[in-house]
Amino acid sequence: MRDDALGLVEDGAVAAKDGRIAYVGPRAGLPAHQGHVTDCKGAWILPGLIDCHTHLVFGGNRSGEFEKRLAGASYEEIARGGGGILSTMRATREATEEALIGAALPRLDALLREGVTTVEVKSGYGLSLKAELKQLRAARALPGAREVSVVTSLLAAHAVPPEYAGRRGDYARFVAEEILPRAASEGLADAVDAFCESIAFTLDETAMVFEAARRCGLPVKLHADQLTDGGGAALAARFGALSADHMERSNAGGIAAMAKAGTVAVLLPGATLTLRETYFPDIAAMRATGCRMALSTDMNPGSSPVLSLLLMLNLGCTLFRLTVAEALLGVTRHAAAALGLKDRGVLEEGMRCDLALYAVEQPAELCYWLGGNPCLGRVFAGLPA
Ligand code: NIG
Ligand code: FE
Repeated sequence: MRDDALGLVEDGAVAAKDGRIAYVGPRAGLPAHQGHVTDCKGAWILPGLIDCHTHLVFGGNRSGEFEKRLAGASYEEIARGGGGILSTMRATREATEEALIGAALPRLDALLREGVTTVEVKSGYGLSLKAELKQLRAARALPGAREVSVVTSLLAAHAVPPEYAGRRGDYARFVAEEILPRAASEGLADAVDAFCESIAFTLDETAMVFEAARRCGLPVKLHADQLTDGGGAALAARFGALSADHMERSNAGGIAAMAKAGTVAVLLPGATLTLRETYFPDIAAMRATGCRMALSTDMNPGSSPVLSLLLMLNLGCTLFRLTVAEALLGVTRHAAAALGLKDRGVLEEGMRCDLALYAVEQPAELCYWLGGNPCLGRVFAGLPA
């Protein structure tokens, strides 16, 4: 199958054994069955959707800031005034681990109802050793409560906490030398992320955190070039990052370097819409260089209070002009690549049998409708979920 093609099979069938796909293809070719058979009655079957960039675990919410922005304040102004990420940090530090889990579950449920089976969850609202680990533990607890795979990313380099006000470099060093090795040794982080931006961390500070990740054997990803072109895409490529995310202002050279390094571009149209950004990622450069594109909710309380990955399929197409195939690959195959997961995102024998079933006539409808939820059900590791 070509990388930009969906490889649709009409009148198909899927068989599972021990949680893996044992057969996928035309129904006529299904081996004589030995187990339970479900008639999907014409539903389209996709790989379970993968939401590869979320900040799902946090305390409180920021609807008050939403109102301030409606009255004219900018995201950067609110952040510089001690609101923004720091206001969620305060609420997250105050919350117990149980309270964080309890607050995250309804948000997770909204994603699962649409056919999501794998979710990435970042820390980054604790900004202290104790609170970052608490956030990661809460994320790790979610699969105990729901049929879902969770992949975690340590995003301690998200903002400078008040204890380090005016000492950004010291905090970045604390992240690299204390928080990161501890999260790694406790097995709480699958990857390391950072916010490389004018209102967050510099290229050098980000590189220091990435070096520490490398020492701990963890892959990296990056919030890159969201508000300014700070060279984040090229830095992500230099470290062989799994992904560079946002990329509204990444330059073509950085994108070419990413394509070469195999770094996936994770597009987050919910943040673009919420912040009413007028800069869009350079999709033409991504296509021209063969840089793979994923799509995600960026579910977070500030710049992207988005609880629908299907809505991102629509926004990816309408705002960023992705094709239907690009959008659908962006929440399946390429989302898996953005997380370094080789066992899902594609319907092939031997892959995890995570499926999403939809009542649509054509897969294009998954991108076409704004709102509504055609998901009929999910299969998680071969079992109805
Ligand atoms: O992905 N860009 C930085 N981090 C988040 C926003 C975090 C927040 O505003 O709480 C993002 O957009
Ligand atoms: Fe984000």
